[in-house]
Amino acid sequence: MAVIPVALAGRAYEVVIEEGLLTRLAETAAPFLKGYGPERPVPFVADTHTHRLFAARIDAHLAAHGLAADWFVVAPGEDAKTWGVLQKLCDWLLALGVTRKDHVFALGGGVVGDLVGFACSVVKRGVGFVQLPTTLLAQVDSSVGGKTAINTAAGKNLIGAFHQPSQVLIDPLVLGSLPDREMRAGFAEVLKYGLLGDAAFFAWLEANGDRVLAREPAALEHAVATSIAMKARIVAADERETLDLRALLNLGHTFGHALEAETGFSERLLHGEAVALGMVLAAKYSARRGEISAGDAARATAAIAEARLPAALPALGLACDGAALVDHMRHDKKAEGRTLPFLLLRALGEAYVARDVDLADIAAFMDEELAG
Ligand code: GLY
Repeated sequence: MAVIPVALAGRAYEVVIEEGLLTRLAETAAPFLKGYGPERPVPFVADTHTHRLFAARIDAHLAAHGLAADWFVVAPGEDAKTWGVLQKLCDWLLALGVTRKDHVFALGGGVVGDLVGFACSVVKRGVGFVQLPTTLLAQVDSSVGGKTAINTAAGKNLIGAFHQPSQVLIDPLVLGSLPDREMRAGFAEVLKYGLLGDAAFFAWLEANGDRVLAREPAALEHAVATSIAMKARIVAADERETLDLRALLNLGHTFGHALEAETGFSERLLHGEAVALGMVLAAKYSARRGEISAGDAARATAAIAEARLPAALPALGLACDGAALVDHMRHDKKAEGRTLPFLLLRALGEAYVARDVDLADIAAFMDEELAG
């Protein structure tokens, strides 16, 4: 078991990692279940997959403790992060009579967590919520830190709020049913923590990544806890991303965003896969600027390829050129006027925000990478 504090003044909370937590909610989340009972069910939001996999177990557990759940179930995937679903969810919460003292439970991956967090930020100007992340990506990244959002026609996550959860409960056993491809996509975000700020963790992942991907309990808990501890430190120091510190968590995301946009934010390239390839490109571009050695860039690339994540652009079979990819980057919400901050590497384990990157040079670099 690991308990990781997120030390935000006035909004401090804990991330608890423990096998079997899902059926120990009544004890572990007791402070956030106050006010609920058999006549007043606990609001749970899930998608059809997480509802099918875990709802019966949670219902039985709560019933044994004199509690009941009321479920709001959304379709799986990004389509749930829309104005329409948000409106229905807010109306449902209001019809249940949630108060600002209540907590809503979000059981799912990043989509469910982002949707529920945003709904809870606006309903009655802010009700509490507890995250129960069910994907590796949500466990190590999106469930912690309070970024919540929906998508609109203008782009992904452009409407949202910072709204911190009251607790994050991570049950590693839920990953048992996660498809391998999604496990690897989440592992990309784990590698990100090593690359951006912890060389020893990166070396540990090089040696033990296969144990994590095989869901070996001790290795998995170490990887998740180390990742969250770094995210918690960064979020506590720069909650609203104003100090170039939280921005470090975007390593691989600017390149990755362009690749996701070019592939239509589709199953062709999952977010974590785009981040993986984005980190390869960030490492290679850092080597091109002479900031890390070609050997270090090759080491980062090898760790990503070893996890069977995309590590070379030609494999994507894109029909565009570097200029088209740079155009996608300009629409990234991190764009600042005509320029873009790029997350680059000074060393394996040390990322920094570069503000002097010439987008024409990025386009030329992408052309070279597309050619293989
Ligand atoms: N996923 C990046 C952040 O939470 O800041």
